[in-house]
Amino acid sequence: MNISIFGLGYVGAVSLACLARDGHKVIGVDIDPSKLDLIKSGQSPIIEEGMPELVAEVAIAGNVEVTTDTASAIQNSDISFVCVGTPSQNNGSQNLNAIERISEQLGEAIKNKEQFHTIVIRSTVVPGTVEKLIGPTIEKFSGKKNGQDFGLCFQPEFLREGSSIKDYDNPPLTVIGGGDERSIQQLRKLFGHLPADFVTTSVRSAEMLKTCCNVFHALKITFANEIGRLCQGLEVDSREVMDLICRDHQLNISKAYLKPGFAFGGSCLPKDTRALLYLAKHEDISLPMLAGLMPSNELHVEHAIDVVLNSGKKSVGMIGLSFKSGTDDLRESPLVAMAERFIGKGLDLKIFDPEVNVARLVGANRRYIEETIPHISSLMKETCQEVIEQSDVIVVGLNDKPLLAQLYEYTTENHLILDLVDVPNQEKLSGNYVGVCW
Ligand SMILES: NC(=O)c1ccc[n+]([C@@H]2O[C@H](COP(=O)([O-])OP(=O)(O)OC[C@H]3O[C@@H](n4cnc5c(N)ncnc54)[C@H](O)[C@@H]3O)[C@@H](O)[C@H]2O)c1
Repeated sequence: MNISIFGLGYVGAVSLACLARDGHKVIGVDIDPSKLDLIKSGQSPIIEEGMPELVAEVAIAGNVEVTTDTASAIQNSDISFVCVGTPSQNNGSQNLNAIERISEQLGEAIKNKEQFHTIVIRSTVVPGTVEKLIGPTIEKFSGKKNGQDFGLCFQPEFLREGSSIKDYDNPPLTVIGGGDERSIQQLRKLFGHLPADFVTTSVRSAEMLKTCCNVFHALKITFANEIGRLCQGLEVDSREVMDLICRDHQLNISKAYLKPGFAFGGSCLPKDTRALLYLAKHEDISLPMLAGLMPSNELHVEHAIDVVLNSGKKSVGMIGLSFKSGTDDLRESPLVAMAERFIGKGLDLKIFDPEVNVARLVGANRRYIEETIPHISSLMKETCQEVIEQSDVIVVGLNDKPLLAQLYEYTTENHLILDLVDVPNQEKLSGNYVGVCW
C-alpha cells in the first residue's frame, strides 16, 4: 500500500519504519526538516531500541521517502496516518494546535485529489476531537464529505517508548474507531496479520479508550507506590505484597470490579479502606489517591440520588437494599444510604429485597436493622410487583433473574427507571430509562 505519515516523532517514526519493513511504500512528512534529513540518510530521528538498524534497512530498500509537502504526500498515497503531538497546556487541557493545522493541510490537499483517501488519526486526542474538530475542519478545507469522499477514523496507538517496535508487532488490541467500510478494510490489510483482536467501535469510544488506558496505567502505578510507601513505614515488604496481589487472577488482575456500576459497600471494602487510611495517618504517610476512594464513592451515591430528586417525582420504589445480589448483609449498603436520603427528603418510599426479610434476619444483620435503620424495615414490602405498581420511580439495585422478569412485566411508560446494575435486555423495560453512569 502507499502510505503517508504526518508527524515523525516516536509514534510516526516507528510506524514509518515498521510499515516500510512490511513492504509498503511510506512517505514521511514533518515540519522539522532535521528529522527528514536523518531519515533520508538512513538514520533514526528517535533514540529507540532497534530503530537505527530498521531505518537504515528500509532506507536502503528504497521503501521510504520524506517531504514537507503535504499535497504531494497525499497525491502519492492511499492512506495517511496522523501522528502529530498533542501536549498538555498550562491548564491541563490538550493542545490541539498541531492537530488543527494538520487537519487544515489535509483538507487542502485532498481538495484536489480525485480518488478516495483515508485519514487515520493515531495521535491521542480527547473524546469528541475527531467528530467536532478534525472531521469538520477537513470537510471545510476540502469541500468534501466525510465517509463519502474521504474516510476518517481513529486508531489508538498502544506502543511504549523503549519497546516500541516490539509493541508495534504485538499490540494488546487493534482498535478502529469510526470510519467507513472501505477505510476499515484498508486497515485490516495493514494490521489484520498482527497477533491481536481487530475490533471496530465508535470513534468516541476509541478516543476515550486510549486516554483511559494511560490513566489506568497511572492509577496502577500510583496504587503500587502508595501501598509501597505504607508497607515501608510498617516494615512490610511491598514487593512481596504486590507480587502476591498480582498472582490473584480471579479478583485482582481480572475483569472483576472493573464494570461501571453503583458504589461499593458491604461489610469489608469501606471498613478496610478506612482502616488502611487510619494506619497511614498514624504512620504520618500521605496516600492522596487512596484517601480519595471514600469521598469518590460517596459522590457516586449522591449522583444516583440526584437523578431521583431532580426528577421531581415523589413516590420511589427500590428493588434491592443489601449491597449486592444474593446476600442479606445491609451493613454499609449504599442502597441503605440512598433510602435514608429519600426518607429525609420526605419521599414516599417502598422497598423490596428478596433476601432481606426482617422477620427472618438473624445476628449482626438483625441487630443492624433494629438499631441502625429501624425506620427502613417498615418500608419493606412483600412483593416486587406492589413496589413497582405503587411507585413513579424505580431504582433497580439487584439484577436477579426473577426480579428482572417482574421489572419487564410491570414497568409502564410512566415509570422513571434508574438502573444501578446494568439490567440486561433493557429494551424489555417500559418507561424512561436512566443508567447510573452510562
Ligand atoms: N510517545 C509515545 O510513546 C506514544 C504512544 C502512544 C501514543 N502517543 C501519542 O501519539 C502522538 C504523537 O506522540 P509522539 O511522542 O510521537 O510526539 P512527538 O512530539 O515526538 O512528535 C510529533 C511530531 O509531529 C510533528 N508535527 C507537528 N505538526 C506537524 C504538521 N503540521 N505536519 C507534520 N508534522 C508535524 C513534529 O515536528 C514532531 O516531529 C501524541 O498524541 C501522543 O500522545 C505517543
